[in-house]
Amino acid sequence: MTVESVSSNVEIGGLSFSYDDRVLTPRPWTQAQSEWARDLLDEVPEGPVLELCSGAGHIGLLALLGNERSLVMVDFSEAACTFARANASAAGLLGRVEIRQGRLEDEVRPGESFPLVIADPPWVPSSEVGRFPADPVTAIDGGADGLGPTRSCLQVIDPHLGPAGCAVIQVGGPAHVEGISEWLQSRPSVRLTVSETRGFGDRGALVLLRRRTEERTC
Ligand SMILES: C[S@@+](CC[C@H](N)C(=O)[O-])C[C@H]1O[C@@H](n2cnc3c(N)ncnc32)[C@H](O)[C@@H]1O
Repeated sequence: MTVESVSSNVEIGGLSFSYDDRVLTPRPWTQAQSEWARDLLDEVPEGPVLELCSGAGHIGLLALLGNERSLVMVDFSEAACTFARANASAAGLLGRVEIRQGRLEDEVRPGESFPLVIADPPWVPSSEVGRFPADPVTAIDGGADGLGPTRSCLQVIDPHLGPAGCAVIQVGGPAHVEGISEWLQSRPSVRLTVSETRGFGDRGALVLLRRRTEERTC
């Protein structure tokens, strides 16, 4: 598949991103996740960034500006991966980007370790996806409570987050932050904790995850 069917372009954070109706439209306010990731890259150890649920790729690509990190992007949508590749190329970043098309549960390999993980899973409860007819259902459907794909991300992040690493994940709002906290507390085997949250108003929230204190090396 190529991007010959490109119907739209959006400028975010100084870069131009192409997309069409097969993928979620890149949303300008989500560059806050890229900016937070860039700040975190100053404090975490060396190594590549992992982006789960990368879509057309703007969040991860913007996180690479001003640094020399490489990026592994994972999305199961063929169209999303095609756009992510085209957008990385347009930004001059393709040489630092690896795009893996497949389920996030399958695409991170045993032994791989990342100092920073960015994740933007679908988080709309299944019963509410009809409120967003312009969005592909597979890009927004978060299951019964909106947290199904988020829990999958947490289960992938935990074994692949390097020492002193951290993750920034996008969720639907305060109820989801609470849901993540409760889920983590009920699973001591998942060695992550909610460290900080930042809101997008009624458009969702960002959650910073770190190792539980007793697991951190610094
Ligand atoms: C909320 S969208 C975010 C896309 C992009 N980050 C953005 O802001 O436009 C979620 C993305 O996750 C992908 N996705 C959903 N479930 C997935 C899974 N189990 N494995 C891999 N990708 C998945 C969808 O194809 C979609 O592109």
